[in-house]
Amino acid sequence: MKFDIIQRTPLYNTLSEIGKRIFLPEGIFYWAGRAKKEAEIIGTLGSAYGFEKDFIDGGNSDWLPCYLKEIPKYSRFSVKEIIPYPSIGGLLETREIWKDWIIKKSLYGEEDESLLSRLTKYITTPVITGGVTNGIFQGCVMFLNPNEYIIMPNKRWGNYDNIINKFIGAKTRTFEFFKNSEMNINGMKTAINEVAEIQDKVVILLNFPNNPTGYVPKKEEASNLIKMLKDSQRTLEKPIIVLVDDAYEPYVYKDDVLSKSIFYDLHQLDENIIPIKLDGITKELLLYGGRIGFITLGLKPSWIDNDDQLQKLKEEINNKLEGFIRAAISNCNSFYQVLVDKLFQENSMEQIIKSRDQVKKLLKERYESINFELKKIKNPDISIDPNSGGFFVFVNLNPDKIKAPEFANHLLNKYKVGIIPIEKLDENINGVRIAYCSIDISKIPELVKRIDLALNDF
Ligand SMILES: Cc1ncc(COP(=O)(O)O)c(C=O)c1O
Repeated sequence: MKFDIIQRTPLYNTLSEIGKRIFLPEGIFYWAGRAKKEAEIIGTLGSAYGFEKDFIDGGNSDWLPCYLKEIPKYSRFSVKEIIPYPSIGGLLETREIWKDWIIKKSLYGEEDESLLSRLTKYITTPVITGGVTNGIFQGCVMFLNPNEYIIMPNKRWGNYDNIINKFIGAKTRTFEFFKNSEMNINGMKTAINEVAEIQDKVVILLNFPNNPTGYVPKKEEASNLIKMLKDSQRTLEKPIIVLVDDAYEPYVYKDDVLSKSIFYDLHQLDENIIPIKLDGITKELLLYGGRIGFITLGLKPSWIDNDDQLQKLKEEINNKLEGFIRAAISNCNSFYQVLVDKLFQENSMEQIIKSRDQVKKLLKERYESINFELKKIKNPDISIDPNSGGFFVFVNLNPDKIKAPEFANHLLNKYKVGIIPIEKLDENINGVRIAYCSIDISKIPELVKRIDLALNDF
């Protein structure tokens, strides 16, 4: 494939060396495709096929992927659905369903016609990844060379560091997430300016609702953040890639905060602020082990002259993303791709949201309860980070008095409560993450009481 169109867009120069280099070679796909159309005898496919009767006692004469006779009893899906390899980028039906789902999640109504048509036209068809983690991995590999910087808040999912520092060898330029209980947008702006001095692109990773804090920006904070990004991009004249980790996207419990992914607002900007949406079924559809995620790029109308170029651009991006998948994991688990396809074919999106709302209600009640109980603790050595969604709250501990790992150890030993300590003194973090998503509401007052008792021991 030629990459004529992508090379003409600002996206191209943001790519890492790997991002520039990777593509999906035609190779066997070219010959397999041709054979499907032209051949009488096909010997291209790398999976075993046969007449069912030749490998299953009592089987029929259908030409099927060979399977073990014990397998079908574990699934109501047909062997034709779950045995073969899915396409590298994922089952097309599932990818298209997820694109519709992304559009649905935009919350644009009929009155937002122009926003809706821009969204529909200028996003790529999601490529299926091995969970959101694999999408984050791909996004980072695609845009970061070793030693290049990515900007992130100090409070973030720990696995980012494994991917970025340990695996890629890139660097993190972090900023203090909060100032006076609001997002520290100025801190982020300083980081952008600093990175733009040494790089031709700026790469940022955002995650709302955030792990480990549960933070979601208030609507006003979100518009300030977007304005800052717009202004920075205009002044610096360098493309800004924003990797949007939407793992916990639907779990927002307050009305005055951003009610949907920040991807949508970023995508509507004309500036070269390029959002990459990373979401998945794992938390969003409560299918953690299903390991299906999606990577979707937001494109800009100014990059292309006509629809033909737009189509080619999407194909070129798709080819690169499929090249990544092929190189790393070949393709993703087909069973859960089929499951998602069926889920959405057989149930309306409203129905799916309604069923999930029962879980969201449960989580919201716990969220309210834990915040209510934590507020009762009158202790100058702790503070709770602003939180409005997700699965966690984060309690900061005064590092001069209480070391987070020691506190967690004491809480576990003496009070039999397990939480996750996070101590990164160089990034000004010393606190504990409480995963209230896994604690029944009836236990929350007792949990907080024990935390209070443990705090008093220090
Ligand atoms: C912020 C964040 N992003 C991504 C993930 C990973 O999601 P997945 O299970 O889909 O790989 C997690 C999981 O804990 C997370 O907390």
